[in-house]
Amino acid sequence: MALLDPHSYVDSDHPRTRRVRLALDVDFGRKVLSGTAVLELAAESSGTMDLDSKGLAIREVRNQSGTAVPFEIGDEDPILGRRLRLTLPAGTREVVLSYETSPDALALQWLAPEQTEGKHHPFLFSQCQAIHARTVAPLQDTPRVRVPYHAEITVPEPLVAVMSAGPAGDRPGPRPGTRTYLFEMPQPIPPYLLALAVGELEGRDLSPRARVWAEPATVEKAAWEFAEVESMIRTAESIFGPYDWDRYDMLVLPPSFPYGGMENPRMTFLTPTLLAGDRSLVDVVAHELAHSWTGNLVTNADMEHFWLNEGFTVWAERRIVEALHGEEAAILGWAVGQKALDEAIQRFGAGSPLTKLRTRLAGIDPDDAFSSLPYEKGSRFLALLERTAGRERFDAFVRAYMARFRFGALTTEEFMAFLEERLPRLAAQVDADAWLNEPGMPANAPVFRSERLETLTSLAAAWPAGARPKAAEAAAWSPTEMLVYLQNLPRPLDAASCRELDAALSLSGRGNHELLVEWLTIAAASDYEPAFPAMRTVLTRVGRMKYLRPLFTALGATPRTRALARSIFEAASPTYHALSRRVVGGILEKYPA
Ligand code: BES
Ligand code: ZN
Repeated sequence: MALLDPHSYVDSDHPRTRRVRLALDVDFGRKVLSGTAVLELAAESSGTMDLDSKGLAIREVRNQSGTAVPFEIGDEDPILGRRLRLTLPAGTREVVLSYETSPDALALQWLAPEQTEGKHHPFLFSQCQAIHARTVAPLQDTPRVRVPYHAEITVPEPLVAVMSAGPAGDRPGPRPGTRTYLFEMPQPIPPYLLALAVGELEGRDLSPRARVWAEPATVEKAAWEFAEVESMIRTAESIFGPYDWDRYDMLVLPPSFPYGGMENPRMTFLTPTLLAGDRSLVDVVAHELAHSWTGNLVTNADMEHFWLNEGFTVWAERRIVEALHGEEAAILGWAVGQKALDEAIQRFGAGSPLTKLRTRLAGIDPDDAFSSLPYEKGSRFLALLERTAGRERFDAFVRAYMARFRFGALTTEEFMAFLEERLPRLAAQVDADAWLNEPGMPANAPVFRSERLETLTSLAAAWPAGARPKAAEAAAWSPTEMLVYLQNLPRPLDAASCRELDAALSLSGRGNHELLVEWLTIAAASDYEPAFPAMRTVLTRVGRMKYLRPLFTALGATPRTRALARSIFEAASPTYHALSRRVVGGILEKYPA
């Protein structure tokens, strides 16, 4: 009797799921998914089997021969949800659960037609990482239990369903005006990579194995923005080995999607804020693509080892960027990441246990523990290992690591044991223990510098002394260079400085949300009234937490900006994703009264 994961009720002694089959009806009127989940078991079983569930209404449970399976639903835990305890009759090979989801399932956002680009049809998307798959289906919701899956999703016509799986055809649905889409995911995936979206969707091929999906009004723009994805896949393959998931498709979601991207296998989900019109934000695609190796193929055992997913992926992302756009571009990426790292350490406090790479999360909601720390401290730890071992030896290690743990899940301790086996004494040489088990940043953190970076940061820091970029100089900046410049400007700025900055760099009209939001964050911290309408527009339309968090935080600066923030949140929160609503609500609660 032992729990496998601090965020799951799965017991190590219980039968394991070997494959999942879902048959679900998408009911936009009631905002529920209803139907069956069939769990095929690894072996013929009997006795107790605990599943994870949250907000699910379980109608009945039977086994493959139709015999009723007694079940008992435990008390609600605010983080874990309810344990669903089955008592399997002897000879059970499959469990068939009839159920429906709750309208406020955390993994699902149901959008009204007005919240879409086309405005005519509703939209549904899922976001299961880290522990929300259990709000979509009763499952063993831990990355340690990987499952291939089959799904049959019935939607109202003319809507289209896509999933983190291969398409397996479609057919008329059980009722007039419905259509059933079939999916097959042959590779075993952790449950958090289960993903579904339904809407008015169209696809455009970008290469024989890559397609982008979006609403009709955005699909051409998306196809242009991501046109270079095939060369990105090839670059990634040259570093990490063959792409193992057959297709790499992408879905551009409506703007309330709470993340920049989500690495759902075979179907990366992306925020539409990446459509900057200049291909400048495709590093997010490099990141989600890199997860095909680090995260999806080799997965953290549970959220206490999240850095193995994200730190590795940021490191991989910057290797892809370096191979495609050169070392200078990668260094700028590290500089942008450094800002996020500083902000995360400041938010938690330098001594906080959440600034360790290896965390202890019993009783802690992974959504509350989430920050850039595992991303940026984790990737710096790996960059240090790479520098110390030498790139060639480290790359060979990474390939061996992926070969050893492919389609598996592992802990930090297992990672370190494998590192010691392959690159003996390297861990001691870099004091890995401090990186993993102590808070804050170790003194031997790798430094990423270049003359370019130096010029940008010192020019920004000298704003109060009157330093300004020359017009021709600023016009030649890449979007990332401009972002680095903006991030390093002191704040608050006085109103005249804000006006001058906005005019000189045409910031208010930017389609690039990284730049627009960085500017608005400066303006918010500076109580700069002319930018208030733009803040309202962005904060009402865009649900990406990476933007909501700094902007609402900066709006805490003065009574006037706090009042603005409260008024925006009151109007916009009904259209926010539940996760975004929680994050922003938490920020506003910490404002001084
Ligand atoms: N897997 C994450 C998103 C995530 C993490 C969702 C934890 C839920 C829980 C994804 O790969 C990611 O990191 N997205 C980033 C973009 C990236 C370039 C750093 C984002 O959304 O900002
Ligand atoms: Zn990631």
